[in-house]
Amino acid sequence: MKLLIAGGAGYLGSALIPRLLERGYKVDVVDIFWFGNHLPRAVGIIKKDIFHLTSVDLEPYDQVIFLAGLSNDPMAEFSPSKNFVFNAAAPAYLAYIAKNAGVQRYIYACSCSVYGYTENELYDESRPVSSSFPYGISKLQGEQAVIQLQDENFSVISLRKGTISGYSPRMRLDLIINTMFLSAIRDRDITVNNPSIWRPILSIDDAGTAYIRAIEAHPKTSGIFNIASGNYTVGEVGDLVKSAVEERLGGRVNLVIKHIQDFRNYKVSFEKAAKVLSFHPTGHVKSIVNDLIDNMEKFSDWDNPLYSNIKTFRNMETSIDVHNMVGTVLGAA
Ligand SMILES: NC(=O)c1ccc[n+]([C@@H]2O[C@H](COP(=O)([O-])OP(=O)(O)OC[C@H]3O[C@@H](n4cnc5c(N)ncnc54)[C@H](O)[C@@H]3O)[C@@H](O)[C@H]2O)c1
Repeated sequence: MKLLIAGGAGYLGSALIPRLLERGYKVDVVDIFWFGNHLPRAVGIIKKDIFHLTSVDLEPYDQVIFLAGLSNDPMAEFSPSKNFVFNAAAPAYLAYIAKNAGVQRYIYACSCSVYGYTENELYDESRPVSSSFPYGISKLQGEQAVIQLQDENFSVISLRKGTISGYSPRMRLDLIINTMFLSAIRDRDITVNNPSIWRPILSIDDAGTAYIRAIEAHPKTSGIFNIASGNYTVGEVGDLVKSAVEERLGGRVNLVIKHIQDFRNYKVSFEKAAKVLSFHPTGHVKSIVNDLIDNMEKFSDWDNPLYSNIKTFRNMETSIDVHNMVGTVLGAA
């Protein structure tokens, strides 16, 4: 089976793709390499913006996976216009040309942030979505566009993922547990901005497994699935990261508890993914911290701006390339 992964050079793709190669899939990646290339040599590389692909380019593939776009709230808020182009229009365009090319399945990287601020109830996929911020709105727009293209010859699966953490060859230190881990080892403290809010946490290993289950699901399977390893309050995440670091690395880590208002608060049910995709997560906060500790020498240049999406994006914004690229995209659209 031949797969095309758009945005596959990012944090999730760089951890997932070695596992796909191991399972015997042929993998090509189309990416504009904002964060460099950490992919195995066996991957076919197409250095292009998604908008410069056509249906003919997609004919060789059985499945297309969308992992691209602006992948967090700070990037989306820094540039809302680019956020809506890359997060809503790009997945819709890619699904449209994939269907025209006869691709059998399209898998879309959605996010639980579409749930916005909920009232401490467990949300399944049938519950109303309510995000009023650019990232959540655009992830929902992308999902709505791609999901309505599904039919009996074109399977569409949207994975609404919790916040991923853990080690990837393309490292990010701007994700909840990764950020807490960094400050625990560098500053010996962990700041918890609001201990009461809920977040679904997803180990990068479980995230990869969810994509494998989706790729290998029955050909007629389509739909929207919440994907997480577990639901935690941010206060509990802080406690668990602190104790896991103290246990493995010794010394004392202090907690700094604040009560800053957050615009996201949600916990999700992932029963549908268990029932339909056979997705059974095994990760938890301690296993994520252990994964980070096992690999910490590989990202010891902690202050590298490439580990922070918003720092890299802000730096790129001042360069002519991004302006030209987005100008071309908007012009082409
Ligand atoms: N990381 C998380 O916690 C998380 C949680 C939920 C959903 N998601 C979604 O999962 C996907 C992958 O997340 P990630 O953390 O790996 O992101 P990432 O920022 O590490 O990687 C995104 C990749 O997409 C590429 N890209 C962006 N726009 C492109 C375009 N127009 N054409 C070609 N390539 C393009 C970038 O160069 C980069 O390599 C994203 O869509 C994100 O919104 C991530």
